[in-house]
Amino acid sequence: VSLTPAEWHRRYTEQARWTADLRRYLLMQVRLSPQARLLEVGCGTGAVLSEIKTPSASELRSLAEGVYGIDMALPSLRLARQHVPGAALACADAHRLPFADASFDLVLAHFLLLWVKDPLRVLNEMRRVARPGGAVMALAEPDYGGRVDYPAALAQVGAWQAASLQAQGADPNAGRKLAGWLCAAGLAEVQAGVLGGQWQAQRLDPAALDSEWQVISADLQALPGASIPAAETARLRRLDEAARREGERVLFVPTFYAWGKAR
Ligand SMILES: C[S@@+](CC[C@H](N)C(=O)[O-])C[C@H]1O[C@@H](n2cnc3c(N)ncnc32)[C@H](O)[C@@H]1O
Repeated sequence: VSLTPAEWHRRYTEQARWTADLRRYLLMQVRLSPQARLLEVGCGTGAVLSEIKTPSASELRSLAEGVYGIDMALPSLRLARQHVPGAALACADAHRLPFADASFDLVLAHFLLLWVKDPLRVLNEMRRVARPGGAVMALAEPDYGGRVDYPAALAQVGAWQAASLQAQGADPNAGRKLAGWLCAAGLAEVQAGVLGGQWQAQRLDPAALDSEWQVISADLQALPGASIPAAETARLRRLDEAARREGERVLFVPTFYAWGKAR
């Protein structure tokens, strides 16, 4: 069963929560003016776009008027229209952005580059539509090759998910390649890093667990050549839940970010 756009939105909102502090920090580095124009490439349902704010002198001002988003999935864009009512949204391919050169002060992406056919071409497009001195940011790209699962029995889920992502056309190791991609796309002053992880022992969040397992189940169904019985998925979920209750569960997918300036 694949997820509905609304279920994807729940997932994207959860992912956006993981990177909220980082986004705030990186946006402070670029000091956008209230008139700034920004574009999110692959904006999905608008989970990130709806949260982009820039700190001004005394308040957090929403940049609603200068906010643009593109995505190739129309059902997601329909939700984005509700979540970011002021934004200019278009259905387009990230490999060919429908904007003139030097149109934006900030061009960003969040969990996008792992999914595209040619990440370098997409980054070249992001650089092209950024004004000279403007910022190009890849805020979150995961690296499943560096995933840590504990207890050990749950490592199987990680291996299956990485294989499934690959079968769906994604690059499970995009994270480690990110800084090199930005440099190759001709961006200047590239800075990169990896998000840390925090866990709260014995604090079980049923909604987050549900959402996680919804995505795992969808991924397992997309796994080529192996059909995993529902009973096995249910057994692993019970193991996951028990480990979380005990406070011993670790699920850490290194998630990289990188940003640089257009010349
Ligand atoms: C994991 S979602 C992330 C959505 C959003 N950035 C967020 O973090 O909430 C990836 C999005 O990229 C879009 N996408 C993938 N390849 C694309 C392409 N070539 N052009 C435009 N959008 C693309 C998908 O439709 C999907 O909405």
